[in-house]
Amino acid sequence: MKIIRAASYQDMSRKAANILSAQVIMKPNCVLGLATGSTPIGTYKQLIEWYEKGDLDFAEVSTVNLDEYRGLSKDDEQSYWHFMHVNLFDHINIDPARVHLPDGTNPDPAAACADYDAVIHDLGGIDLQLLGIGSDGHIAFNEPGAAFELGTHCANLTEDTIEANKRFFARKEDVPRQAYTMGIKTIMQARKILMVANGPKKAAIIKQAFFGPVMPEVPASILQMHPDFTLIGDAEALALI
Ligand code: GLP
Repeated sequence: MKIIRAASYQDMSRKAANILSAQVIMKPNCVLGLATGSTPIGTYKQLIEWYEKGDLDFAEVSTVNLDEYRGLSKDDEQSYWHFMHVNLFDHINIDPARVHLPDGTNPDPAAACADYDAVIHDLGGIDLQLLGIGSDGHIAFNEPGAAFELGTHCANLTEDTIEANKRFFARKEDVPRQAYTMGIKTIMQARKILMVANGPKKAAIIKQAFFGPVMPEVPASILQMHPDFTLIGDAEALALI
């Protein structure tokens, strides 16, 4: 586990974008695992800026996102499909055929999740997975208690997560109660993992996850066992470690 201290949100975002850029330069046809949430938005902005300057080429890159809300279609403005297009894909030369998210509209969870695991498998696995962290320690939608050995599955969102994510919806009632999410096993199989965390709300969980015991009650704690895991945090998120 490597921990990189960033001075600010902008510094964290630039450092994370540098690592993602290096991956794309070293392996132009790499598979990037991408994340939603507010934390990676600055990282995506930085990648777009470097793309516009001509420093980055995404033509051969494939992407797989961590998760998608069950029941939301691609044109739903709250879908992660929409989020990723607005915040990154619409602004870079990624091939739309190489962009992958779980299919939230598939009513059959087992089929939707098996299809997604097959996509990741057929791509040859994930080279670099970007992650945020929920303040309860969830990664993707692997909520506290989720079994470490799960692949992509349908998860029930906890009250905490619904509460935290309601800011993206008009009303709390609109937040879907379930999501199709990569499991901890899927995430741990990525060759490299990069987590970004900022702000005081993440300080306690960062300490618990990376300096406490590894246990399903704190899903992110498993990352301590990954052979190539890097955490980049701003001063506030790393204040307790
Ligand atoms: C959601 C996402 C997670 C993300 C988390 C934290 O629950 N499924 O992938 O890490 O939110 O979001 P934020 O970065 O806004 O704190």
